[in-house]
Amino acid sequence: MIKQAIIPLAGLGTRMLPLTSVMPKELLPINGKPNLEYILEECLNAGVREFIFIISKKKSSIKKYFFNDNFYKKIIKKKKDKRIIEEYKKIKKYQKMIKFVYQNSPKGTGDAVLRCRKFIKNKFFLMLLPDDLIVKHNCSKEMIRLHKITNGSVIATKRVKRKTVSRWGILSLKNKKKSYFQINDVVEKPSIKKAPSNFAIIGRYILTSKIFGEIKRLKPGQGGEIHITDAIKSLIYKKNKFYGNIFKGKYLDCGTLSGYIDSGIQINKGKK
Ligand code: G1P
Repeated sequence: MIKQAIIPLAGLGTRMLPLTSVMPKELLPINGKPNLEYILEECLNAGVREFIFIISKKKSSIKKYFFNDNFYKKIIKKKKDKRIIEEYKKIKKYQKMIKFVYQNSPKGTGDAVLRCRKFIKNKFFLMLLPDDLIVKHNCSKEMIRLHKITNGSVIATKRVKRKTVSRWGILSLKNKKKSYFQINDVVEKPSIKKAPSNFAIIGRYILTSKIFGEIKRLKPGQGGEIHITDAIKSLIYKKNKFYGNIFKGKYLDCGTLSGYIDSGIQINKGKK
């Protein structure tokens, strides 16, 4: 059963400057709601009941967003606004589910995952990268279904344009079925020549807890960071089963300024 999700939130958000010089990118609103709340809702609807946020001192406003009780209480005391009361109930619900760990220097997603080790209770857990929104179909739910069938790790994937492969982790596949395949290998941000396919990793992973041991053994890779992709690669080489879930939903890239602007437009369109 997948009940826990970890969400790396310590990134600096440089691709989103100037918007992120004061405000964490994960709190920037998309059609009236912070990016992060879309991710939490996807998880809740997929049955997740506990979240581990990896934040940094610089991003303490994420903690404040969910734990600003006094602010709400004061306002509610003054005026009994129904909407504000509902919002307050929502953060109270989230408060019971969220734990925080700190990553004060940007050492990569692998390092972020390792910091959650002491909180992970089961053999498998979910990880979501909040830059990647997937709307219309619940991707985490689809992945949990595939995990139940295969009992393996699962990575969300979609075909991308060949000329963009160097932006992503790219999967090498075998035994392709209609909506999923087994992963043979994974290459982080390859050149077009070296890309084994055009199936890209999108930021949703169901990982085995064996990943912690693998991360510990890793030396820093590209950019001096510890990459989760490298740990996944060694687990695949050690015959652990990984599957690519070709998700049905619509992918929105919220990690760049142009993608962020477009996400708002796309979500708004979907509501009409
Ligand atoms: C990360 C992963 C990459 C994946 C991407 C999805 O890259 O390392 O494998 O394809 O997320 O968004 P980043 O966006 O941190 O450069």
